[in-house]
Amino acid sequence: MRKQKLSQRLNQMAKWIEPDSSIADIGTDHGYLPYYLFEQGRIKNAILCDINSGPLENAKNTFHGSPYGNSSEFRLGSGIEPLKNGEVDYVIIAGMGGSLIKAILANNIEKTKSFKGFFLQPQTEQDVLRVWLLENHFQIVNDLYVFEDQKYYEALFVMPNALDLKLNPVLTISKSSQDSFYVYAISKDLEYGYKVHPESIVVYRAYLAYKRQKYEMIQSKIKNVDSLKYAQCQSKLQQIKLLSLHLEMHLKKRD
Ligand SMILES: C[S@@+](CC[C@H](N)C(=O)[O-])C[C@H]1O[C@@H](n2cnc3c(N)ncnc32)[C@H](O)[C@@H]1O
Repeated sequence: MRKQKLSQRLNQMAKWIEPDSSIADIGTDHGYLPYYLFEQGRIKNAILCDINSGPLENAKNTFHGSPYGNSSEFRLGSGIEPLKNGEVDYVIIAGMGGSLIKAILANNIEKTKSFKGFFLQPQTEQDVLRVWLLENHFQIVNDLYVFEDQKYYEALFVMPNALDLKLNPVLTISKSSQDSFYVYAISKDLEYGYKVHPESIVVYRAYLAYKRQKYEMIQSKIKNVDSLKYAQCQSKLQQIKLLSLHLEMHLKKRD
């Protein structure tokens, strides 16, 4: 049995899991997140899944000798394939690229829509995932941001249907929704999030500054100011400036 210290990247999702939930952790590897959730007494059972047997063994080692073995199952397989329809409340998919997460969710949309909610933590191509979610009528309830080890991490709390938010008023994460920063109402570029949770706004402000620096640097290296790439950078920078302006107004209103 091991005492867990969870990374902020994973903790940003863990803290919003409703007490007494059942969860599935897809691509669990070491199984740290479900273990931590058991330690905190937040979940009643967990299904830990991975496509590779080595990582699944890592998870079993994490749980070895712990009191949580009877409430946990370890299943080998791709994405949500090892799960039955509606078998758990929440599905967590963290530490993978946005395109892979999208492919996992799209593989069996009927099954995907049978769960109550998702915590998704794409490491790359976050916009690809958000576009797919909106096109398939999922509700992105909130985007969560943390800064850890010199990197920004974003996680999405998602419900399968837009209407579900009203049907599940108990969800703590959605309670402060009015104070969220509604990015999509200002910019349709889903690289910058959809709706930032109030607790993430300070990190999000720094994240926008980081993005601005990044695109300014890329643009400064493009010699041809008439090129498509230059124009694309210009458009990215305009979006960021607009969002930053609205964010400052949002923060002023909040204080
Ligand atoms: C970088 S680790 C992330 C571990 C953990 N979720 C985290 O965020 O710290 C990615 C894990 O996903 C697993 N994986 C990759 N593709 C998968 C798929 N299609 N279905 C299930 N697991 C997958 C890998 O074997 C690996 O253990």
